[in-house]
Amino acid sequence: MYRLLFSQVLRRLDAEAVHHATVRALALLSTLPLLKRLLHRALAPSDPALRVTAFGVHFPGPLGLAAGFDKDAACAEALSAFGFGHVEVGTITAHAQPGNPRPRLFRDVRRRAVINRMGFNNAGAQAAARRLRRTRGVPVVVGVNIGKTKVVPESEATADYVTSAKELAPLADYLVVNVSSPNTPGLRNLQAVELLRPLLAAVKEVADSTPRRTPLLVKIAPDLADDDVDAVADLALELGLDGIIATNTTIRHSGETGGLSGRPLKERSIEVLRRLRARVGDRLTLVSVGGVEDVDDVWERLLAGATLVQGYTGMIYEGPLWASRIHRRLSRRLRRHATTVPELIGRTAPDRG
Ligand SMILES: Cc1cc2nc3c(=O)[nH]c(=O)nc-3n(C[C@H](O)[C@H](O)[C@H](O)COP(=O)(O)O)c2cc1C
Repeated sequence: MYRLLFSQVLRRLDAEAVHHATVRALALLSTLPLLKRLLHRALAPSDPALRVTAFGVHFPGPLGLAAGFDKDAACAEALSAFGFGHVEVGTITAHAQPGNPRPRLFRDVRRRAVINRMGFNNAGAQAAARRLRRTRGVPVVVGVNIGKTKVVPESEATADYVTSAKELAPLADYLVVNVSSPNTPGLRNLQAVELLRPLLAAVKEVADSTPRRTPLLVKIAPDLADDDVDAVADLALELGLDGIIATNTTIRHSGETGGLSGRPLKERSIEVLRRLRARVGDRLTLVSVGGVEDVDDVWERLLAGATLVQGYTGMIYEGPLWASRIHRRLSRRLRRHATTVPELIGRTAPDRG
């Protein structure tokens, strides 16, 4: 049904216009408690075999929505009702900003990919905090992904992230420092360990000071050299971070300027996951994202050592029931193998951590 709608209608419309219409519809749904609860009952993962706990937070299923879809924390509850085990909102910056000029979102249907150069368009940390404070009608695990405001120079990046962290860490189930989006000039330089150490240490101090101690993760690019992946992993261990999210979009492609996501990212995303697992074992929570399309991909990432898996582009091509369908299929497969998600994690990974 969705595939037909996509091939006949949606793919002919401007990708960003479709996106905003979807977010508006989901935000509206978020205000309709009865419908939201009915959807949640029908679509949210409920099989105990799917449950997984990471950094002290309980997730009803391993597949969550990656950052970038719900940039302003407008519809996390509705997304949870549609079957995502968690929703990572953002990237949110300390100050509101418009992002890059449009067009800035492009589908590559043949390759099942998307290129975006959105540039962290968002209403800022205070506006997101107001939304996150609203009471919730259905359970939802919310990760909050923070980034640097574009006009803030690199030398003041730490203070900018700290401003967002102070506003948002108390409202997040986990917090993510995003230093890997390709669309904010200079942002990815912050992945260099000498710049990343003071930044992460300062944000961690804020995250540690909330009443529940908010778990902190860092999100990295697929374009890091292997040695740099190792260096970030070592730094995350040294600072006592809770996990690493790998990966963001890649700039290694020949299309429109921007970050490429979807199927072409799959291979490198898995490679980075395996490298991280070999380096840190189970001492950090690994969240695998990039090119996840179906239950086979989720299965493979769990076996390779990911505790959680995320996707975004897969939903663009498969529609709103995507996460629910994958969780259902995963549940059936777990049953066939008489196992559970926690038992699956890292089964094929080398045990060096
Ligand atoms: C349109 C779009 C916007 C995105 N915006 C963000 C963002 O604001 N922050 C972020 O950390 N990642 C962002 N991402 C990257 C995704 O979170 C994810 O890491 C990447 O798309 C790979 O996953 P996928 O292949 O399942 O899409 C964005 C991706 C897309 C397609």
